Amino acid sequence: MNIPLDFKKKIIAAFGKEGEKWLSCLPALVESYTKKWQLYMEGPVGNLSYNFVIKVRDCNLRPLILKFGIPGADVTREIYAVELYNGERFAKLVNFDKTDGVLLLERLEPGVMLSEVKSEEEAVFHYVDVWQALRRPAKPSFPSIYQWFNGLDEYMKRNPKEEGTISNELLAKAGQYVRHIQTTSAGDELLHGDLHHYNILYDQRRGWCAIDPKGVIGDVYFDFVPFLFNELHSPAVLKQRVESISNLLYINKKRLLKASIALLTLQTCWAVEEEGDWRGMLTTIQLLDDLLNE
Ligand SMILES: Nc1ncnc2c1ncn2[C@@H]1O[C@H](COP(=O)(O)OP(=O)(O)O)[C@@H](O)[C@H]1O
Ligand SMILES: [Mg+2]
Repeated sequence: MNIPLDFKKKIIAAFGKEGEKWLSCLPALVESYTKKWQLYMEGPVGNLSYNFVIKVRDCNLRPLILKFGIPGADVTREIYAVELYNGERFAKLVNFDKTDGVLLLERLEPGVMLSEVKSEEEAVFHYVDVWQALRRPAKPSFPSIYQWFNGLDEYMKRNPKEEGTISNELLAKAGQYVRHIQTTSAGDELLHGDLHHYNILYDQRRGWCAIDPKGVIGDVYFDFVPFLFNELHSPAVLKQRVESISNLLYINKKRLLKASIALLTLQTCWAVEEEGDWRGMLTTIQLLDDLLNE
């Protein structure tokens, strides 16, 4: 199995030595699971990010997805969350191995991503529909999204005296918005944690369904953030998405903007460390700030 070079580079940039070690074991791991579960390989998907995702078929030629992640808490939470959604507007879990970080999933067919829907209005409509179908009560076995935000303080400690790319002022503001969301929250729910255009796929039998949950609990306003920023081609689109989500779900626009600034600032901290597009993210935070002050 050929592992694309871009994918290898991304894994090493994000996970360093641990990533290198995982990549070196990956071909043998793929071979062992295709043998064990009697799968035929069709090849990796076209949009790999931090997991190795392959199209496969079982011995009845049923189309499936075989997904490998660096073993650990993230993959284990993903397995628990996929199990919990139980195939309801979600790709169903067929098999898994927590120790090796492997998931075998039902393949959504044709699996067109929501990013292929060119009308913003239509895309937001499908997004809201899927989001509503995935609402579940919080379960204490999942970690809280508020723990993620410790990353803001950790970034500040690693970059004292404004040496970092992100200003202390912005980090402090993000922290203040997190506290605002927490103190005004109606309570935690299970969040998808990464519901955006590439994780919402069209299935010919079941319509638009989700994949790839993070397995985290928290205030639902945080769950809108990944969709707001993905496939964002102009400031006008951001404004339109904020308006549409607020109107369709009767939610407070200013509160949504605060949750968005908080989470996007945290993601910018991660992007700086992984050499991602933090500059573009800072521009988007400025746009959100302008909308908040309108
Ligand atoms: N169950 C599935 N059915 C069809 N396509 C899938 C399925 N799972 C993943 N894919 C495809 O593979 C891509 C990457 O998979 P994903 O689980 O989102 O990995 P990552 O966690 O690395 O984002 C998705 O954007 C989608 O195009
Ligand atoms: Mg994904």
